[in-house]
Amino acid sequence: MIVVASTNGNVGIRESMRVLKAGGSAMDAVEAGIRLVESNPEDHSVGFSGYPNILGQVELDASIMDGNTLSTGAVGAIRGYEHPISIARKLMESLPHVMLVSEGAERFAAEMGFEKTELLDDYARTVWKQGLDSLLAPGEFEKLDQLTLWRLIEAASDPERVNSDLYFANRKPEKDAGTVNFIAMDGKGDICTGVSTSGWAWKFPGRLGDSPVIGAGNYAHNKYGAAACTGMGEMAVRASTARSIVLYMKMGKTIEEAGEMAMMDLDELGGRYLSRMNIIALDRYGKPAAFTNMEGASYLYMTDEMDDPVEKPRIFIETHTTWNEN
Ligand code: GLY
Repeated sequence: MIVVASTNGNVGIRESMRVLKAGGSAMDAVEAGIRLVESNPEDHSVGFSGYPNILGQVELDASIMDGNTLSTGAVGAIRGYEHPISIARKLMESLPHVMLVSEGAERFAAEMGFEKTELLDDYARTVWKQGLDSLLAPGEFEKLDQLTLWRLIEAASDPERVNSDLYFANRKPEKDAGTVNFIAMDGKGDICTGVSTSGWAWKFPGRLGDSPVIGAGNYAHNKYGAAACTGMGEMAVRASTARSIVLYMKMGKTIEEAGEMAMMDLDELGGRYLSRMNIIALDRYGKPAAFTNMEGASYLYMTDEMDDPVEKPRIFIETHTTWNEN
């Protein structure tokens, strides 16, 4: 048994392994681990206290995938619910659909008895407001909802970038933050993958990234392995990154070769906005690996023989990045 996670999964990985050791399924373990990250007030890219969209609304995305049946559930741009991962799982188990967004997802959550919560706390509200202060003319903040928003989105940022020194000149980078990824393999050999995020800080309302898109930010198949992504979701959507790694393993590549090939796919992307990308992966034998285009990035894993998770370096693969350059 093993659980693999992005480093912000540190608050949940032990619980995830405890669930596996108690006989829970890979899906139980992934959900249990991610719920703790979603509730972590120190993590401003996932769940409660996530950074909001440009209008100050926290919109969450999550998905979960069962590698045994290839069943999935995903929610996108959902407001007012702290645990989108649990809503995604409930959707998978209760509906013939695989994805709900916005009001539809909120309606489903209410019908299923999920509790409504205010997600924007004072910290995230303050940082959001400070971020806007430099962009807006006097008096504009008060009528933000009436402004044309698209020009302001240049100031938005994907989860990895907003937590780095690239973004906040006067703030320390937030350690162990960003979208969260969990992959678990249980005692039966079933694999499950889960992803949860508040997405880009100050994003355009309704924006979805890779996290709720199966094949982009999340994919699991018992026969071949699993992968999940963090970073600039638009890139993983464009390159079908999570599914690509699993497909490369299906084609007979090792996990290391598959990850490198998926990263090189990202390097083929053109356009003005290319940023940070990270992948965690697990092969069908239970071997973990992780990949990044950010030097020094790491990931976590924990097997049933360990008392604590280990933090290991990700394999660094340089890809070109651009930010609004022609
Ligand atoms: N990778 C998460 C996002 O772009 O929303």
